[in-house]
Amino acid sequence: MTPAIASQSSRDGRIVLVAEGVDKRYGGTHALRGVTIAFRAGEIHAIVGENGAGKSTLTRVLTGATGVDAGHIQVDGAAHELRTPLDGQRLGIRMVHQHDTLVPNLSVTENVLLGHLPRAPRTGWIDWRAAHGLAAALFGQLGWPELDVRQRTGALSAAQRQIVEIAKAISIEPRVLILDEPTATLAHQDIERLFAFVRRLRDRGTAVIYISHHLDEIFELAERVTVLRDGALVGTLPTAQTDKAGLIRMMVGRAIEDLFPQRAPPAPGHRLSVHGLARTGAFADVSFDVGAGEIVGMYGLVGSGRSEIARCIFGADLATAGTITWRDKPFAARSPKQALGEGIALLTEDRLGDGLVRGMSIRDNASLASMAAISRWGVLRKNLQRGRVEEQVRRLAIRPPDIERNVAALSGGNQQKVVLAKWLLTDAKLLILDEPTRGVDIAAKRDIYDVIGRLADSGIAVLLISSDLPEVLGMSDRILVMREGRLVGRFGRAEASEERLLASASGLH
Ligand SMILES: Nc1ncnc2c1ncn2[C@@H]1O[C@H](COP(=O)(O)OP(=O)(O)OP(=O)(O)O)[C@@H](O)[C@H]1O
Ligand SMILES: [Mg+2]
Repeated sequence: MTPAIASQSSRDGRIVLVAEGVDKRYGGTHALRGVTIAFRAGEIHAIVGENGAGKSTLTRVLTGATGVDAGHIQVDGAAHELRTPLDGQRLGIRMVHQHDTLVPNLSVTENVLLGHLPRAPRTGWIDWRAAHGLAAALFGQLGWPELDVRQRTGALSAAQRQIVEIAKAISIEPRVLILDEPTATLAHQDIERLFAFVRRLRDRGTAVIYISHHLDEIFELAERVTVLRDGALVGTLPTAQTDKAGLIRMMVGRAIEDLFPQRAPPAPGHRLSVHGLARTGAFADVSFDVGAGEIVGMYGLVGSGRSEIARCIFGADLATAGTITWRDKPFAARSPKQALGEGIALLTEDRLGDGLVRGMSIRDNASLASMAAISRWGVLRKNLQRGRVEEQVRRLAIRPPDIERNVAALSGGNQQKVVLAKWLLTDAKLLILDEPTRGVDIAAKRDIYDVIGRLADSGIAVLLISSDLPEVLGMSDRILVMREGRLVGRFGRAEASEERLLASASGLH
């Protein structure tokens, strides 16, 4: 242990985990550059940085999911060589991943207790009553007693799966718990429940490492924050000694003003009109319009039916009632292919599920939805493809700007940009964006807002589904609010505010 770190430890909680001089390369990418950082028992330590800064790589090194090229990891003052996640787990280091790692065909209980399901003492068979009881007790502790542990996780919502991931991580009492963007899929109240749990865990002496692009969360939750930039540690400081603007300057190297673009007023043109749309069990009686050059925001809590509406317009699901008019004609897409043919594109919220094909390059992923436009006589025109994809990579500032790179090797935020590039390449006239900046850093957010603003200015109609209040307020010409499958609020840009949208979405007036 270095003397500097040792002397601090007497003042605060005991140091449990240290990365010292850690270096990690992926081929030509220097993902971590000599990072030294210490984590204390009973403290929430946030890590922030732009997409690709090295946050997830650091967690992989700390858990043993990946080895280091130089430097070492110390647990309780002793150096350890962590070669597999099991090595980390044995030392009490547990991780909630940025992306879903659950097995969809297994029950909640099986997923949570995988590897340590209780067995009956005499027969050695799995004791399911005890197992379900254990799992249910974990969800009780977490503050989610209502979750049915016998369900298959494949049947759960993204938010519920996130909670199951957390239960899995704490199924063995962790000494260090790492959370990589845990709130991305959670609704407002669920975030509060999660925070309450994380604080209890901290008070019991767990060292919590918390990664998020939501800087507000960092100030609400963490005692200390570390900023990474380009794989290097910029600094570690108490959250009480900095503020949002200060963190952004450390992360990006400059101040970011004017997050949202100035926009031209919408012009008359094509229009989507939805009337009395319903899908049994998901939403009912939904009517709204989106015109050319307009950005209509759709706010609501997770699970309020917004994504289901998008899927019905896009032909991924069928509506059970109501009508849609698109470009002055009745329209009812029976498949996404048909919707795409009519100039309608949907960026889904689940970027790794149906958004990206892992194992394929940026080039191939980005052109998946626009193959017809870049093929002649069924033959792919490679140069045309390269030019079009490279233009999007520049426009969206995708890093690294190498179109042959496998998308699995990109950081989370850059993967999200590749999905966006895919839909931009379809030359859609109506773009439905479902949580387009989830998991995206503040500088990249600004790039994406800029692109969305320019698309609208060029006459594209945009339906922007988002749970990010500042985003909905900053980008939309009009805002619709959904609650429990119903459209419960409509606001003009001037009359909308965070308080009003939240009150409307949660039914509190
Ligand atoms: N398996 C891999 N192979 C090659 N390069 C990788 C791999 N994993 C990460 N990288 C690269 O290492 C760098 C750091 O990535 P990392 O995922 O740690 O970033 P991050 O800070 O977690 O970003 P985000 O906020 O987008 O999640 C990036 O340049 C990324 O492209
Ligand atoms: Mg990451």
